[in-house]
Amino acid sequence: MLAQDNVRILPAGGKLGVLVAGMGAVTTTFIAGVEAVKRGLAKPVGSLTQLSTVRLGKRTEGRSPRIKDFVPLAALEDLTFGAWDIFEENAYEAALHAGVLERPLLDQLRAPLEAIRPMPAVFDHEYVKRIHGPNLKPKGAKMEQAGMLMEDIRKFRESSGASRLVMIWCGSTEVFHKPAEVHASLQNFECGLKNSDPEISPSQIYAYAALQSGVPYANGAPHLTVDAPALVELARERNLPICGKDFKTGQTFMKTLVAPGLKSRMLGVSGWFSTNILGNRDGEVLDDPGSFKSKEESKLSALEQILQPELYPDLYKDVYHKVRINYYPPRGDAKEGWDNIDIFGWLGYPMQIKIDFLCRDSILAAPLVLDLVLFMDLAQRAGMRGVQEWLSFYFKAPMTAPGLYPEHDIFIQLMKLKNTLRWMRGESLITHLGLEYYD
Ligand SMILES: NC(=O)c1ccc[n+]([C@@H]2O[C@H](COP(=O)([O-])OP(=O)(O)OC[C@H]3O[C@@H](n4cnc5c(N)ncnc54)[C@H](O)[C@@H]3O)[C@@H](O)[C@H]2O)c1
Repeated sequence: MLAQDNVRILPAGGKLGVLVAGMGAVTTTFIAGVEAVKRGLAKPVGSLTQLSTVRLGKRTEGRSPRIKDFVPLAALEDLTFGAWDIFEENAYEAALHAGVLERPLLDQLRAPLEAIRPMPAVFDHEYVKRIHGPNLKPKGAKMEQAGMLMEDIRKFRESSGASRLVMIWCGSTEVFHKPAEVHASLQNFECGLKNSDPEISPSQIYAYAALQSGVPYANGAPHLTVDAPALVELARERNLPICGKDFKTGQTFMKTLVAPGLKSRMLGVSGWFSTNILGNRDGEVLDDPGSFKSKEESKLSALEQILQPELYPDLYKDVYHKVRINYYPPRGDAKEGWDNIDIFGWLGYPMQIKIDFLCRDSILAAPLVLDLVLFMDLAQRAGMRGVQEWLSFYFKAPMTAPGLYPEHDIFIQLMKLKNTLRWMRGESLITHLGLEYYD
């Protein structure tokens, strides 16, 4: 018997316009990567939407379609890109500047990349301190700036011929701010936009413009943006999906692999020291204490949530957890992340684990951007609105409903993601109980 979909999913016909705020290392690696895959020059390694399968039914049924054959996703050929940045370089020049992908590959993609010229940005030095660029919108009240972004979105929709749009923040990390009164409701927020309230960040102006234009919004950086009641309210009101925050790559990805493993065996942790060196523009921005604070908050929360010291005080009550990021220009985008983990086993005997991850930040982040864009478009067509917790898999600090702690364990996150896809298509959820095989 064919399964009956639980939600009505509109087809992925026509073009999907991908609007990216910030066109630096991650964005150019993502766009160039899609163009390279389209031309058969490389494989989309790291992308679930392109490579992963989803098991359906019992293990004996042998049904494991690719995710992209199971749910209707936009095809890579149907993606069209637009971006904003404070620098004027086109995507080809920006990719060369970022220094992630090699020139011979970029040269083969030169034409489509050169065609992407960043629109002038809404920018505020109070929120990102270390960089200065000329490609800015004229000064004005924050509501006027939102209006200018909405006009950009309207024009992009028209010129690209896209039938649907998705926006994702891949811009610099903004200075740490807690939610304020102006974020408490949509009414307060709109009033704050009119008065140019200093607590409203540029990324929140982009998010407001997106949602008001009927465009889903994903946040790849650790700052607040849509993780505020006012914007959640707007997303729900406009029936739009939102998600965030902070792509889970590099060191936190490793942390969320190792920590659930240690906990699953009831091994204790007394200390976890994490330090990074990186030399790209992201590293330069994170060298500012305000931006680092946003990142630190996001990185610290994962371990505590996974280990649950309140349930396991003997094992995790006093974990000494430290995270450091050091800007070290010679490394460029090739980050090095060290972890020293002090653990203890049977009768409290101590042991150590050392991880030295020589990673490439943007190479890890690009497939996440692709998956998020395609899944947010799917969610939009499936009528799913508000916070998309099933996309926690991609984030260091996943957004959740108020009062709910986020799920950080990557394997639970993956199960949640795949079960959501099964649920959409009316397939049975997989619980891994499996007693029926032994009746
Ligand atoms: N690469 C990773 O693994 C990873 C992981 C998690 C989060 N992130 C986050 O993703 C974001 C992008 O990272 P990246 O390495 O590409 O950084 P990057 O510095 O190379 O690119 C960011 C770009 O955003 C632009 N920008 C800043 N403020 C802007 C604004 N208001 N409007 C438009 N453009 C603006 C900058 O000019 C810059 O070109 C950062 O916030 C980073 O913290 C990256």
